[in-house]
This record gives sequence, structure tokens and C-alpha cells, in this order.
Amino acid sequence: MKPIDRVNSTEKGTLKNPYSSTDKAITDEGHKIYMGLSCNGCHGGGGGGGMCPPLTNETWVYGGDDDTLFRLITLGTQEYKKKYNATRTGTESVVGPMPPFGELIDDETKLWKAIAWIRTVWGGRAEKKVWQ
Ligand code: HEC
Repeated sequence: MKPIDRVNSTEKGTLKNPYSSTDKAITDEGHKIYMGLSCNGCHGGGGGGGMCPPLTNETWVYGGDDDTLFRLITLGTQEYKKKYNATRTGTESVVGPMPPFGELIDDETKLWKAIAWIRTVWGGRAEKKVWQ
């Protein structure tokens, strides 16, 4: 199923990554997917940011849980905010729109693997971890 179809067919707050960020085979694949989709062009090859928000710090613009990240990457900033009436709760050094990827990714498992990899580059404090 495409990420966009998953987002549109499941209730907000219920999505959870089926993959573990401690499974290196999965996260290695996830990093390749991330690079293949050119996420690195904005977030950097190691997720540390650049022209866009870093994925490695404790600040999450709309929240850091699996459901929020999956929907944000799928819908992009504009649709995400519209659909869920969301506002930025965290402020990163760079503020801009995240483009929608929900139609470009042909299978949701690829997005989950990329998110699993993003978990591996995160360097925040344990008490700030909002996923499993
Ligand atoms: C054109 C530049 C661009 C590309 C390409 C891009 N992003 Fe983003 N991304 C952004 C911006 C800008 C934001 C902040 C959105 C906001 O503030 O509304 C963001 C936000 C995010 C966030 C939330 C970060 C936080 O701190 O809350 C994640 C996770 C993310 N992007 C993952 C990805 C993934 C995975 C890809 C590839 C599939 C990707 N991005 C491709 C620009 C980009």
C-alpha cells in the first residue's frame, strides 16, 4: 500500500513502525531509501540538517512519534497542517515546508524503514524519546 493510502485509511494517532531501529539490516536499507528519495538534499546524509531541520535533535516540529513522522513525510507540511489542523509545536533553526512524499513512495514499508533509520541518528536524552 502507498503511504498516502495508509494515511487516508487509518485514524490519526494509530500508526506504528513495524520495524525496530535496532535491526541493522533494516536501518541500513532505510538509509539507502532515504538517500534514494533525496531526503539528504535537505536534511543531510546523516540527518544532521543543513538547509532544513535536523532529524538528530530533541526538537520535533509537530511531534516525534511514529504516527506524526509517517503522516508528515507522506502529506508534507501544507497538507499535514490542513488535514489535522496542526501548528508547529517545536521551533527548529530552519522553518519551511516539508514536501509530500506519499505518492512518490510506492510501498509504505519503505517509509517505515527510512523512519527506523532516522531513529538511529537521533541523539536526544532518553526521557525525550517518544517512540519504542
Ligand atoms: C525540499 C527539502 C526537503 C526534502 C527533500 C525533505 N524534507 Fe523533510 N523537512 C523539510 C522541512 C523544511 C521540514 C520542516 C517542516 C515544517 O517546519 O513544517 C521537514 C521536516 C521533516 C521531519 C520532521 C523533523 C522535525 O524536526 O520535526 C522529518 C522526520 C522529515 N522531514 C523527514 C524527511 C524524509 C524521510 C525525507 C525524504 C523522504 C524528507 N524529509 C525530505 C524539508 C525537506
